[in-house]
Amino acid sequence: MVREWDPRNASSAELASLLDTLNAVLATDLPQDPPWRETCMREYLAEVMPGERRISWVAQAEPAADGTPGPILGHVHVLLLGSIGVLEVLVHPSVRRLGLGRDLVLRAARRVYQEGFESIGVEVVGGTPAVAFYESLGFAREYVETRSVLDLAAVDWTELAEMSTGVGTGYHVQFHPGGPPDELIEAYARAKAEIRDVEDGELRPSSYDPQRLRDSLDCLHRRGMKPYIVLALHEQTGEVAGLTEVVVPAQHPTRADQYDTIVVQDHRGYGIDRAIKARMLLELRSTEPQLTEVQTWNAQANEAMLKVNAELGYLPDREWCEYSVDVAELVHRLDNSR
Ligand SMILES: CC(C)(COP(=O)(O)OP(=O)(O)OC[C@H]1O[C@@H](n2cnc3c(N)ncnc32)[C@H](O)[C@@H]1OP(=O)(O)O)[C@@H](O)C(=O)NCCC(=O)NCCS
Repeated sequence: MVREWDPRNASSAELASLLDTLNAVLATDLPQDPPWRETCMREYLAEVMPGERRISWVAQAEPAADGTPGPILGHVHVLLLGSIGVLEVLVHPSVRRLGLGRDLVLRAARRVYQEGFESIGVEVVGGTPAVAFYESLGFAREYVETRSVLDLAAVDWTELAEMSTGVGTGYHVQFHPGGPPDELIEAYARAKAEIRDVEDGELRPSSYDPQRLRDSLDCLHRRGMKPYIVLALHEQTGEVAGLTEVVVPAQHPTRADQYDTIVVQDHRGYGIDRAIKARMLLELRSTEPQLTEVQTWNAQANEAMLKVNAELGYLPDREWCEYSVDVAELVHRLDNSR
């Protein structure tokens, strides 16, 4: 049975059951990824940025003979932002190829259509059944990134300490757990605005103005995802010349996510990229001692960034693709295939 579901008032048993399904999916499709924990799961699923909405549905098995509710075997949510609905679907490996994934997408697609949105986007992990699934539904590939993973046990920390000091004179590198300090928010947002597309695809919008940046940091904290920032300040102008952002999620605190890394055009060629990323890893080693890996996503064309990541020890892991589809076409296709 598929029904609309609100994580804000879901029972703990439902959240635990959804987590079990997510971990079964990970164990099947991405066995190297750490399983998720229940810490802040509700907040992770419920909290959104101002102006955004997330709508969710679950597929729940029939109750047992004694009335115990059945497990949650499928889940879909759609995040409505700007003109696009961003979809995520999960089906437990024990009930795949029965049409449940298609049903869940149809539920979400109908709503996105009713809400007046034109397209649906989705992130699809290469080498998993999701590729054939979305292609069978008419989704088209828009953008491909490579995910790379750094195993912290393999890092040469002495070499890394050297890298972290290899920045040209005139720059001051700073570490800010929790996010940039308020007095640097404007300079930080300017650095982000200058280079809009370095590492992002469409589905991971960055924050380019100070208020959106504050909102985005606040949203991360509410979802149990702790941001860390290292930035390079240009001493002469006080401008942020470079920045790198890592988030440690309460849901999988042994594997951190690298977000944006940006070096502003005028400040390239001074070793900032390498130095700020190295400094970040050194700081995380003491601040988050449970951390064992960091994952990052890069456009395949971004050779400079890939070179620095390779020097740091990141190893390419998977293709990470963005697909999209016209909502009206999707609803039409799904309705006709029933
Ligand atoms: C992708 C996913 C949602 C599909 O769910 P499902 O319930 O098995 O999908 P359906 O049964 O509705 O399949 C619909 C169509 O998709 C295609 N398809 C689905 N899985 C497929 C596979 N493994 N190989 C080839 N085609 C496939 C088929 O055309 C299928 O129709 P058919 O069975 O009549 O041939 C499911 O595999 C899943 O949860 N994957 C993980 C999703 C994810 O994003 N994870 C990210 C974190 S790991």
